[in-house]
Amino acid sequence: MNIQWYPGHMTKAKRQMQEDLKLIDLIIELVDARVPLSSRNPDIDQLGQNKSRLILLNKADLADERQNEAWKEYFQSKGFYVVKVDSRSGSGMKMIQNVIQEACKEKIERDRRRGIKNRPIRAMVAGIPNVGKSTFINTFAGKACAKTGNKPGVTKGKQWIRLNKNVELLDTPGILWPKFEDQLVGIRLACVGSIKDDILNIEELALWLLEKLKKDYPGALEKRYGISEEGTPLETLEAIARARGCLKRGEELDYVKTSGLIFDDFRGGKIGRITLEWAGQQENN
Ligand code: G4P
Repeated sequence: MNIQWYPGHMTKAKRQMQEDLKLIDLIIELVDARVPLSSRNPDIDQLGQNKSRLILLNKADLADERQNEAWKEYFQSKGFYVVKVDSRSGSGMKMIQNVIQEACKEKIERDRRRGIKNRPIRAMVAGIPNVGKSTFINTFAGKACAKTGNKPGVTKGKQWIRLNKNVELLDTPGILWPKFEDQLVGIRLACVGSIKDDILNIEELALWLLEKLKKDYPGALEKRYGISEEGTPLETLEAIARARGCLKRGEELDYVKTSGLIFDDFRGGKIGRITLEWAGQQENN
């Protein structure tokens, strides 16, 4: 499967990110809880050196709760602060305020020693496309928060959202670019909908997903489609096509339509809460 990305966008995004990083104390990095490693770009660790770091396992509502916990522990063991969130419903938001204070306690202490009082923590949201950055900013900032407008000494045009007297958030998120060196990373990102469907072969992708689901979440397909999971991924795809009446003219099975249906269901959480890469088993994923 050949997945393309656009280097021009990457370069621009990286430059913008480097500029914005100069303005902030804390990076709030969103990852997709269903694919926590594939939806990260490890370059951020280098770019964000000397910054406080908070990882949000976003779309936690769609991911397997056991894996959410396992990934939380995994990232904590690497020294990150971690919160599980569902940016759509707002679940997990309350906790973030406290964790931000905790993550920035060294900076707060440093300011205090230098006699600087009440300088708010400045944070930015970062993540690869479609991970939920805009949704998160809207939900987290809520309607009650006023934009503070441009500040003297700060790059023109930057808007800060005042979350409370202690925290300000840059209103435009930092866009990270996915790391595609490993084909599987591209495949997982495509499954969760972070790469446009039209640049890859959707049937091949569906076969990959079906095989994965049968192995890691046995019974989930059976429950959703009322089919038997016996047989090859292709046989399963055919069984779903028949169960859902995905036929072309002349009774021929419509694989493309069936694949689209499976992805709509999967991405909408209708096949269950599923995590495509498991903590501690990276090599087997
Ligand atoms: P981005 O800024 O990082 O590019 O992502 P964006 O906020 O646009 O979110 C991408 C999609 O992910 C949106 O769905 C959004 O609703 C969904 N989303 C974001 N956070 C969560 C979450 O925590 N849980 C769930 N279940 N979904 C989340 P969409 O289909 O593109 O749009 P829409 O259907 O919401 O209009």
